[in-house]
Amino acid sequence: MTVTEAFALDAGRFRSDFPVLTTRSRSGAPLAYLDNAASTQHPAAVIDAIADCYRGYYANVHRGIHTLSEESTERYERARKTVARFLNTEHARELIFTAGTTAAINTVARAWGSANVGEGDHILLTMAEHHANIVPWFQLATQVGAHVHFVPLTDDGRLDLESVARMLDALRPKMFAFTAVSNVLGTVNPVAALVEMARERGSATLVDAAQAAPHGPVDVREWGADFVVFSGHKVCGPTGIGVLYGREAVLDAMPPFLGGGAMIHRVTTRGFEPAPLPEKFEAGTPPITEAIGLEAAVEYLGHVGLEAIGRYERQLVERAEAGLREIPGLEILGPAPEHKAGIVSFAIEGIHAHDIAQWLDTRGIAVRAGHHCAMPLHQSLGITASTRASFYFYNTPDEVDAMVDAVGEARDRFRKRGRKRQ
Ligand SMILES: Cc1ncc(COP(=O)(O)O)c(C=O)c1O
Repeated sequence: MTVTEAFALDAGRFRSDFPVLTTRSRSGAPLAYLDNAASTQHPAAVIDAIADCYRGYYANVHRGIHTLSEESTERYERARKTVARFLNTEHARELIFTAGTTAAINTVARAWGSANVGEGDHILLTMAEHHANIVPWFQLATQVGAHVHFVPLTDDGRLDLESVARMLDALRPKMFAFTAVSNVLGTVNPVAALVEMARERGSATLVDAAQAAPHGPVDVREWGADFVVFSGHKVCGPTGIGVLYGREAVLDAMPPFLGGGAMIHRVTTRGFEPAPLPEKFEAGTPPITEAIGLEAAVEYLGHVGLEAIGRYERQLVERAEAGLREIPGLEILGPAPEHKAGIVSFAIEGIHAHDIAQWLDTRGIAVRAGHHCAMPLHQSLGITASTRASFYFYNTPDEVDAMVDAVGEARDRFRKRGRKRQ
């Protein structure tokens, strides 16, 4: 029995934990959910944790002197500790709950950026960034008169460390913000090496781990970055919650971003004193139930095993690419499977990505088509859109094969139509 077959049996077992995966698509075909880079599905353990909170002990946190509020506060802070362990932070107070990756990056760009980036300064990104790690930096640059630059990728969609070093040397950017895993190409970046290169040149670092945290262990101490961010809904958790990790000294020195209740130590008619970490960055009522759902999600992933998830997904990627390569006119984007997390994007000459995705939907297969919030990357590849299949540990080799077959059918069908029109 191959490793894939061995793990596929486990994938089958895990599937039954996910109620939605037993449903059928509109077409009547069994659902093959291959849109995990957009958002993952939820195991019963997460759904139950959220329902248990609302049913059993929900109240606002950090303010009530009553039993429910105390229990709810205790569970919310327990969730922080669990997620902090998931990232191996030094202290739980370095873990700020936000509304998601986008909210976390905006917090850093606004709060850290306004205190540390000024006129004529530089911010370095890579060509593989999601708009969430581009637009907030442009907004900051416009506000303070700074400049945003992009490290180009190699022809096979990887970061060339010499180009990174050259740009760091030439620009001495205040911030180097980059993704750990590309949401389009699947490319896995050497995070610790990139952070070290930036630190040696005096640049702060932010790592967008939105596509890394679902697919393998994230150890923020090993990475050494100033900030690491990810979203709950991509790790089997709820929407409306994400994480901003910051090194304690950096967060302590950073001014608060949103102002309001809960983030203050004292307010007088003359001003306010911010609360200590982590409350300083959690103004207003936080995402209480969502944090408890996220805790259940990361505990569940720990039970599945993050190393095993990464290994298994790489096998699904290899299988998908081997099949897709047989389809004439199809180009797989990004590097070879050994450099990828569980994402395969491709383009077929003369056929729009939306047509392919729509055809796959008629077969019960959910993939994403478009620019995937990465327009600069698509521009650099000379295309406007791509089709993306993104896998998770509950996907099976059969689903991958069904996707490959359906893409082949789509190619034949739309190519014939194109020919008839000529
Ligand atoms: C690499 C990356 N960064 C950031 C985001 C934004 O995440 P969210 O929409 O959860 O804020 C995504 C979402 O697809 C992503 O893939």
